[in-house]
Amino acid sequence: MADIASELDAAIRTIPNYPKPGVVFRDITTMLGNAPVFRRTVDELVAPWVGAGIDKVAGIEARGFILGGAVAHQLRAGFAPIRKKGKLPYDTVRIAYSLEYGVDEMEMHRDAIEPGEKVILIDDLIATGGTAEAAVKLLQQIGANVVAAVFVINLPDLGGAAKLEALNVPVRTLVEFP
Ligand code: PRP
Ligand code: ADE
Repeated sequence: MADIASELDAAIRTIPNYPKPGVVFRDITTMLGNAPVFRRTVDELVAPWVGAGIDKVAGIEARGFILGGAVAHQLRAGFAPIRKKGKLPYDTVRIAYSLEYGVDEMEMHRDAIEPGEKVILIDDLIATGGTAEAAVKLLQQIGANVVAAVFVINLPDLGGAAKLEALNVPVRTLVEFP
């Protein structure tokens, strides 16, 4: 069997100059539509955490919801959504952040995590790390024990994984694109 990085490399589509000139967009929709690769990707994301007592998976809107829901189901964990601003109806915590091609704000419900719960953060991709760093800060603000951050794709040249590791959050990714 091919290694997961090679399978993902073949299954992810690359779109130059989207959504802005100069950005090389890594499009996971082709991977999601490929049943065996999608299934294996979720299995690989889950594997290190089976039996690790993860209470909740936190996923970042929108692509992190697709992966995070599947991972939470396999781990028998709860799911905590981290949403773009204005979408959550109850009492929230909010943070502004910047990413490779823009700025935004994200929110969580204050009661999405019980203090001390073991949480893994999931998203499809880490580029500059602005999104993931903001998500870790929100999770920690509401008392989560963020044990790791897990991504399908790492863009190491943009420095995001190193930024999270500097915050003492271990990072695991399945494939890198230069
Ligand atoms: C993308 C991606 C990550 C983020 C990574 O999300 O899914 O969340 O960018 O970029 P960074 O490491 O530079 O912060 P986007 O905001 O485009 O949202 P989407 O999932 O709704 O498409
Ligand atoms: N999010 C931030 N940078 C990205 C990229 N290059 N491709 C896909 N999603 C991204």
